[in-house]
Amino acid sequence: MENPKEIVAKSALRYITSGDVVGLGTGTTASEFIKALGASPLSKEVTCVPTSLETESLAKRVGLNLVSLNSVERIDITVDGADEVDNNKNLLKGGGGALTREKIVAHYSKRYVIVITEEKLVENLGSRMPIPIEVLPFSYVQIIRELNQMGLSCQLRKNFTTDNGNYIIDCKPNQKVLKGSLQDLNKAIKLLPGVVETGIFINFNPEILYHK
Ligand code: A5P
Repeated sequence: MENPKEIVAKSALRYITSGDVVGLGTGTTASEFIKALGASPLSKEVTCVPTSLETESLAKRVGLNLVSLNSVERIDITVDGADEVDNNKNLLKGGGGALTREKIVAHYSKRYVIVITEEKLVENLGSRMPIPIEVLPFSYVQIIRELNQMGLSCQLRKNFTTDNGNYIIDCKPNQKVLKGSLQDLNKAIKLLPGVVETGIFINFNPEILYHK
């Protein structure tokens, strides 16, 4: 029996064509896509850019050709998962801690396909999962203090270092922040020195594929 993540991930295969440079997301749903791509006849006809070390090692295991982002002119399409998706197709990502590389790869992708199961659809980002923020270890305590003052209740993710050697702070927004402008919140967080990236993905115009 196929699980829902596997079904939705496989459905993204129809967007891939021979010769594509494919961005590979991170997480359990993206992993199902990577396995499906590795098992498909297209596996030797595409070149892939991974968004994490975990994805890189899975993609190698299933026989995909990998290159670094710096060695390609473009990414034709990226397939990734998400932790939450709102009605405006804004995304919350970073449950697996790969948000910075995921956001960079998404930025350089012509087409951006998000594969999720239905429970990831929410009214407001941050209602189901905390907002992950990647920060430099040097100032994480100061950053947590500032984020708390902004109406976010923050915790350092325990025993976790990102592929970039940084920390993740998981932040639960209070009701006011939850209902407020995502754009303003994202901007305010990114202005704090030492913040590398947030898990708030706005204006990426993703195509959302979901399964019940
Ligand atoms: C990785 O950092 C995340 O952005 C994932 O894409 C996200 O957490 C979705 O993961 P799952 O498909 O495992 O739920």
